[in-house]
Amino acid sequence: MNTKKKILVTGGTGYIGSHTAVELINKGFDVYIIDNLSNSHAEVVDSIEKITGTRPFFANIDLNNKSAVNEFLRVHSIDAIIHFAAFKAVGESVEKPLEYYRNNIGSLLNLLELCREHNIKNFVFSSSCSVYGQPDYLPIDEFAAVKPAQCPYANTKKIGEDILKDTAKVVDINIISLRYFNPVGAHPTAMIGEYPIGAPLNLFPIVTQTAIGKREKMMVFGTDYDTADGSCIRDYIHVVDVAIAHTVAIERMLNGQSKDRYELFNLGTGNGLSVLEVLNAFEKITGVKVNYQLTDRRAGDVEKVYADTSYANKELGWKTTRTLEDMITSAWAWEQVLQKKYAEA
Ligand code: WQD
Repeated sequence: MNTKKKILVTGGTGYIGSHTAVELINKGFDVYIIDNLSNSHAEVVDSIEKITGTRPFFANIDLNNKSAVNEFLRVHSIDAIIHFAAFKAVGESVEKPLEYYRNNIGSLLNLLELCREHNIKNFVFSSSCSVYGQPDYLPIDEFAAVKPAQCPYANTKKIGEDILKDTAKVVDINIISLRYFNPVGAHPTAMIGEYPIGAPLNLFPIVTQTAIGKREKMMVFGTDYDTADGSCIRDYIHVVDVAIAHTVAIERMLNGQSKDRYELFNLGTGNGLSVLEVLNAFEKITGVKVNYQLTDRRAGDVEKVYADTSYANKELGWKTTRTLEDMITSAWAWEQVLQKKYAEA
């Protein structure tokens, strides 16, 4: 009899979802992916199989199609869900608030109602450090007040957390929200990485695209922040460390180690780095110059944010092990793979 626990990864062909699928398979879980491929590629399933030697089950389903998800859950007896699938572009969310609320909140509600119906008792939610806004103190811990969201995308994460907290009060389900700081880098095999359908908007892919010549130059947003060099500070974390944290959260719930039905943890390294520090490190580590220009602040950016990791380190027994060099070398190797993929497409 197959006694492997079955984990459903929604958004499993996406950036963080695909890395998490790999780590789950490596730990011996049976992985099921649901994704509607709205911002990812079906070939990621092949890549996961190449890396792990095991092909995850894949279904192209939109989570807003509740009857399709219901049918999926009726056929497969799932033990736990990790819910990544969501729209995530900050600027786009300002332009399309209804699409963002409908997609991100609607899919979460569908999944939670179906968890109740199918008696699925373990749920991990992708949240974001954006719920802290500009924190009143740094490093920021999980007990800090949540601030008004800066954009509809961030608000879907804040509302999502509220929905989960209220649900755990009355439904017999373990829920863990993981608040990501800035996930970057790619798998060390360079077989999976960030592979969005449109143009990326985050710092790391913009740096690597500029270095490889796909972009002529890039902008550094802001020169007058209250930081040593005037640029913003973030807590960049290797995507594989983020993925491993999800497997730890799943094991915590399945082993009955949760302290509360609703828990939340920061996923960061605890190190704040400025944009200019990232650029300097990139040039030093790769030996490739990046053509960048200093410019005005970007609307909506917080000045600095980095995690207090002590609670996650102690309670989850999880700690990041990958360095800035690992983040940069893996992101750079992946950009070279992407260049070939886009050339062939
Ligand atoms: C990092 C720093 C920019 C691009 C966002 C979301 C957050 C999370 C991750 C996930 C900032 C600077 C960037 C560029 C630059 N969500 N920058 N030039 O804004 O911290 O977080 O993504 O899906 O919820 O808000 O990440 O990578 O966009 O920016 O100078 O061309 O790099 O100003 O200081 P951010 P980012």
